Amino acid sequence: MPSIVSEPKSWRNQRKELSGSLGFVPTMGNLHAGHISLCEQAKRENDFVLASIFVNPTQFNQREDFDAYARTLEADCKLLDEAGVDFVFVPDEKTMYPDKYEVQVIEGLVSGELEGEFRPGHFQGMLTIVLKLLNIAQADRAYFGEKDFQQLTLVRKMADSLFLPVEIVAGKTVRAEDGLALSSRNARLTPEQRQIAPTLARLLKSGLDDAAVMKKLEEAGFRPEYVASKWGRRLAAAWLGDVRLIDNVPLSEVKKEEAA
Ligand code: PAF
Repeated sequence: MPSIVSEPKSWRNQRKELSGSLGFVPTMGNLHAGHISLCEQAKRENDFVLASIFVNPTQFNQREDFDAYARTLEADCKLLDEAGVDFVFVPDEKTMYPDKYEVQVIEGLVSGELEGEFRPGHFQGMLTIVLKLLNIAQADRAYFGEKDFQQLTLVRKMADSLFLPVEIVAGKTVRAEDGLALSSRNARLTPEQRQIAPTLARLLKSGLDDAAVMKKLEEAGFRPEYVASKWGRRLAAAWLGDVRLIDNVPLSEVKKEEAA
């Protein structure tokens, strides 16, 4: 089993003892194959891997969503062990926010669009916790999935702007056989919604323009929030019942011809 650390100070002491490179995978737990693939990538590219599990209150828009987020520490540690993770940082809220949320990271452009338009404050909370975690981890490389492409874009921007001494590495989106991007939220889809869900990825890859994809998503039973082409990707967020799904694909994978 990976060794569990809950205090920044004890991690710093352990970090000093490590001779070799360190990869860091921040998570909120409730792990699935997407997280595990990031851990395995980190293991291939580094001598040691540290993962963190912290359900960050400041990046949730609704308190109920934060409260309802599945906490599955025991199962998560088992998966991390199988993936070869050496250490897991599991702090509590008081440890991570000794300032009672008074110090925050604000990015003034990318964080206000797409996800930021529909989830105000989300990226401020995410960047704040990621900066804290990166400062504690003192890793050579930190791994973020392309599934949350806007998050990855913002973390890279923060690392460049603040001269953080860490390489930000992207991990490919892991998909189910039918194309649905893996997400902790998929478990909340009803069997009927789960059948419809892969339509999101299929339409993103279709040759239809963004507006036509929005329309087709509605026809399929989604409530789409946005479909947009940016940063070399086509990105979307859409609700199926009370589950909000996000996904994106490289523009190079978007077909040139109209979808069948
Ligand atoms: O992607 C996530 O799970 C979270 O946004 C992160 C990066 C762990 C920060 O809380």
